[in-house]
Amino acid sequence: MISCILKTQSKILYTFLLALVVSFGAFAQASEQAEVAQKGVDPGATEGAEVTTGDPAVISAGEALFKNNCAVCHSAGSDVIVGPGLQGVTKKRSESWLISWTKNSQALIQSGDADAVAIYNEFNKQAMPSFAFSDDEIKSIFAYIDSGKGAVSAPVAGPEGAVAGENVGTDAVGAIGGYLDIVLVVLIIVLIVLVVTLLLITSLLKNYLNKNRQLNEYDAEVVNQRFDFSKVYKSNAVRTLVVLIFVVVLLDLTIEKTMGIGIQQGYAPKQPIAFSHKLHAGEHQIDCNYCHTTVYESKSASIPSANICMNCHSQVKTESAEIQKIYRAIERNEPIQWVRIHNLPDLAYFNHSQHTQVGGVECQTCHGPIQEMDVVYQYSPLTMGWCIDCHRETPLNTEGNGYYDKLVELHESSSKGAFTVSSNGGSECSKCHY
Ligand code: HEC
Ligand code: HEC
Ligand code: HEC
Ligand code: HEC
Ligand code: HEC
Ligand code: HEC
Repeated sequence: MISCILKTQSKILYTFLLALVVSFGAFAQASEQAEVAQKGVDPGATEGAEVTTGDPAVISAGEALFKNNCAVCHSAGSDVIVGPGLQGVTKKRSESWLISWTKNSQALIQSGDADAVAIYNEFNKQAMPSFAFSDDEIKSIFAYIDSGKGAVSAPVAGPEGAVAGENVGTDAVGAIGGYLDIVLVVLIIVLIVLVVTLLLITSLLKNYLNKNRQLNEYDAEVVNQRFDFSKVYKSNAVRTLVVLIFVVVLLDLTIEKTMGIGIQQGYAPKQPIAFSHKLHAGEHQIDCNYCHTTVYESKSASIPSANICMNCHSQVKTESAEIQKIYRAIERNEPIQWVRIHNLPDLAYFNHSQHTQVGGVECQTCHGPIQEMDVVYQYSPLTMGWCIDCHRETPLNTEGNGYYDKLVELHESSSKGAFTVSSNGGSECSKCHY
């Protein structure tokens, strides 16, 4: 009967341990799903909208352009942000004026145009950046402003609206994570309390039995048994197992470390100014090439000079200690000392325009979700294997490019697979090594 009590007791313990494992598994799965849901957010999706005729399409193309390029400084209503609210501007100015202003406001001001000079002076001679848009693209922006769609949700229009939507998703995901955390903590506390109670009951029972009952030999042994740990760790099987695990872990670490020499994946140095891509590229949806101006045209992506920051920060958050650092750098005429993150060895040649402009590869494919990073980290390993794997898998965009016609024909007659970057010689040593 006594051993029966002890058995039920261990059964209860066992059941709770099982429950713990199961709930832990569920927790891990849920947080994984949360992560996937978060990664699903893709603010880059609206980039590069095509302008076609037909009003709603034009307006929505204009909306995307406006939100990506103008909304940090302008509302589509009447509020002043950095520049004036643009509601009704098409009544005030001619279409050709608006087009030349948007393309290059400084040129218009210098030509002596009275309206341009007046608005420039009214806004304390702040230079509005120039935009290399086509006439149709600019027309679509003002078609959007005219439609009044942006004016309704006015105060600090565009980006804030978009941000609100995005945050709801993230918050909900965060809430699920937080809720699971609480459940887990409560479960663990309950388990600890249970174990302690059970132990107390056991010792009470044991005392009671030893004192008040005449036990036979067998029962006495069961009641007073002690678990002998020394027997376990002295056993050969256990010792071999421990040594084996130790060796495997050591081997794994060594291999990982040697393979990782020179690889800086995950590198996220502290920067001299707490500049956040999440805030600028994510929430305020500033285009990457607004700051990394050469990324579509040349080998290097370029890091923005302090002057680019000043386009906005001559007005935005001027009191912030972090922004004051920009002013100090300009006063002293020194560049901001950003710490370089991505850095290939000199023996390798990499060209941004070839990938972003010609190949049409998204920044995020190589740099990860930059628009969600407060501090930029190196997302990809940047190893030779990484470059070549992608070249082997990625079909070359040959559509409408006569240069490739003969090559594709030749490729299709000789082999079956797609015409990849590698088929075009993208795995030849000399393409990447000088
Ligand atoms: C960095 C801030 C900034 C950005 C981005 C910006 N602007 Fe401006 N904009 C200004 C400022 C400041 C003025 C006021 C004139 C001046 O100081 O140059 C202005 C003036 C204007 C005016 C003249 C308004 C009037 O009443 O005459 C138009 C039109 C205009 N911007 C359109 C645009 C469009 C379209 C975009 C996006 C493609 C854009 N702006 C992006 C800052 C900006
Ligand atoms: C408002 C200006 C601005 C915008 C917009 C911006 N960046 Fe940056 N970016 C910077 C500055 C400043 C740095 C250097 C400081 C740092 O690393 O955070 C930087 C650094 C980086 C780096 C790391 C460079 C290195 O040292 O290796 C990458 C990669 C990058 N940006 C990609 C992007 C991408 C992709 C986008 C668009 C989604 C983007 N940036 C939008 C200003 C900007
Ligand atoms: C096109 C406009 C624009 C440009 C260009 C820009 N920023 Fe910003 N920046 C903003 C806006 C908008 C905010 C958010 C202000 C707020 O939260 O009210 C901000 C916030 C910041 C903050 C946070 C300030 C604080 O104390 O909360 C820092 C730091 C910053 N920017 C640094 C930079 C640097 C460095 C550059 C140049 C590489 C730069 N910004 C370029 C628009 C811009
Ligand atoms: C095919 C992969 C790939 C794509 C796509 C890509 N980058 Fe890079 N990026 C790199 C590599 C590799 C480096 C390191 C280059 C070096 O050290 O010479 C780098 C470096 C950078 C740097 C640091 C400055 C420099 O030029 O070395 C910035 C900033 C940057 N990238 C921004 C961007 C932006 C913005 C985009 C999208 C418009 C983009 N990158 C698209 C692979 C990529
Ligand atoms: C995400 C995929 C991807 C990654 C990663 C990538 N590339 Fe590329 N690369 C491409 C594509 C796509 C093209 C073809 C562009 C075109 O249409 O010409 C290309 C073309 C090239 C070319 C020109 C090849 C030729 O035939 O002229 C060179 C050189 C190159 N890449 C170097 C690199 C290096 C160096 C790295 C690693 C640091 C790298 N690439 C990483 C996708 C990638
Ligand atoms: C698509 C671009 C690309 C091609 C093609 C390529 N490499 Fe590389 N290679 C790289 C990059 C990037 C690195 C630097 C990797 C690093 O720093 O880990 C590199 C590094 C190296 C190194 C230095 C050793 C090391 O790991 O740092 C050697 C040697 C080398 N490559 C030889 C070759 C030979 C031989 C070929 C032709 C069979 C070749 N590579 C083709 C991109 C390429």
